[in-house]
Amino acid sequence: MGNNPLRDPRDRRLPQIAGPCSIVIFGITGDLARRKLIPAIYDLANRGLLPPGFALVGFARQDTRHEDFVEYAREAVKAGARTPWHETTWKQMAAGLRCVYGSFDEDESWEKLVSKLQEIDDERGTGGNHAFYLSIPPALFPLVVSKLKKHGLAQSSGAWRRVVIEKPFGHDLASAQELNALVAEVFPRESVFRIDHYLGKETVQNILAFRFANGMFEPLWNSNYVDHVQITMAEDIGIGSRAAYYDGIGAARDVIQNHLLQLMARIAMEEPVSFNANSLQIEKQKILANARPPARMDLHTAHAQYEEGWAGGVEVLGYKQELDIPAHSTTETFAAMRIDIATRRWAGVPFYLRTGKRLGRRVTEVAVVFQRAPHQPFGRNDTEELGQNALVMRIQPDEGVTLRFGAKVPGTAMEIRDVSMDFAYGGAFVESSPEAYERLILDVLLGDPPLFPQVEEVELAWKILDPVIDHWARSKGIDTYASGTWGPESADKMMARDGRTWRRP
Ligand code: BG6
Repeated sequence: MGNNPLRDPRDRRLPQIAGPCSIVIFGITGDLARRKLIPAIYDLANRGLLPPGFALVGFARQDTRHEDFVEYAREAVKAGARTPWHETTWKQMAAGLRCVYGSFDEDESWEKLVSKLQEIDDERGTGGNHAFYLSIPPALFPLVVSKLKKHGLAQSSGAWRRVVIEKPFGHDLASAQELNALVAEVFPRESVFRIDHYLGKETVQNILAFRFANGMFEPLWNSNYVDHVQITMAEDIGIGSRAAYYDGIGAARDVIQNHLLQLMARIAMEEPVSFNANSLQIEKQKILANARPPARMDLHTAHAQYEEGWAGGVEVLGYKQELDIPAHSTTETFAAMRIDIATRRWAGVPFYLRTGKRLGRRVTEVAVVFQRAPHQPFGRNDTEELGQNALVMRIQPDEGVTLRFGAKVPGTAMEIRDVSMDFAYGGAFVESSPEAYERLILDVLLGDPPLFPQVEEVELAWKILDPVIDHWARSKGIDTYASGTWGPESADKMMARDGRTWRRP
């Protein structure tokens, strides 16, 4: 965890080391903290990116002994860390672990937190710099934010205080505005970090590098050449034990409102003046402000629920049979929609977004599908097997980029078929990519905001989605699809209406 004397701090290719600080995680015993946050903090420590006196404070309801908390964190690291186990790193991290027990609504617990942080400042030199990570159900955000204010934790002269909010950022536009207003009363804009973990993924960051560092793609990146764009986030898992979070939220709010619309904005935006948060936000915001939900929701959206079927060779339950899901739930586990972007660059180029749980396999990709060549000087039979050219960015897994185009099949006939040219991250770079949460937690501690959605983007995304969700709420019942398939028939029909088909990733 210490500073490495061999590092040249002026080298901008090296990640910066966070200054003295601590992070307080509300919801430390939750799934996200255990699977992602605690391991990411260990990985940062292992890479030497945390300051020597760094402290991780867990706020938990159930009183346990300090040793049990340390053991819990150790197990979380062992199970979830990306980087190798080093006893010395762990010992340093463990020395900065603290836990405060209590309930969010009791002022007493907050007083305990205040004195714990004071103690940490005195003992570990964290200088009053503290980040508060809200890894808790959204219903508790208002309470926790107001208590942070009441107990003087939200601001401190001469030190920084930051708040990290996990999605969902509201339930719809109105609740998002309410939440944003409440947070804004307590924390200044530059101290609010909204996590969309997709933005921390290397491959998502690569979208802008791919588009703006190269000369050969951008000239084609518009309605003169692009036929349409498909953005797919498919998961093979079901909802597991997340009924309490997921039911009533559904696929559109869970991932389209944030991850998929953010991907769309990056694919569609104009070149930013620079890569600072403000310039990026200006360009993304223009896209979201011009993105239109379908004029005919019944024709250009689809939503459905998984039924029993097969996943990874195992027979699995349907959504309604999952633990704690009400028998009459109409929450969608699959959502698809067409979005049009009313700008000169994208007029007439639909963006099709789809996501689902219990689909054929886990894959997230963006496919930019090009128009066919205006003329084919071949016989019709020669090009029967030729599809449309496509550029596919694989966000995960098998991170990389594939270009699909037609090539002559060897032989005497002029037969043309699709082939692929492939770039794989794993083959081109030896370093493994940091986990999204690793990057995002470090950026919070550094106070570096480009990878965090700003309030305007969040609200614009709800403006796109609200009418679609309202339409679904008014429609009767919900379609279904068998687990392990690629979604409901209605999604295929939606594409067929436009004379197109979904890619089978
Ligand atoms: C989360 C959603 O934001 O992303 C989950 O709430 C989903 O429902 C998860 O499973 C997927 O993340 P990843 O990084 O595995 O694609």
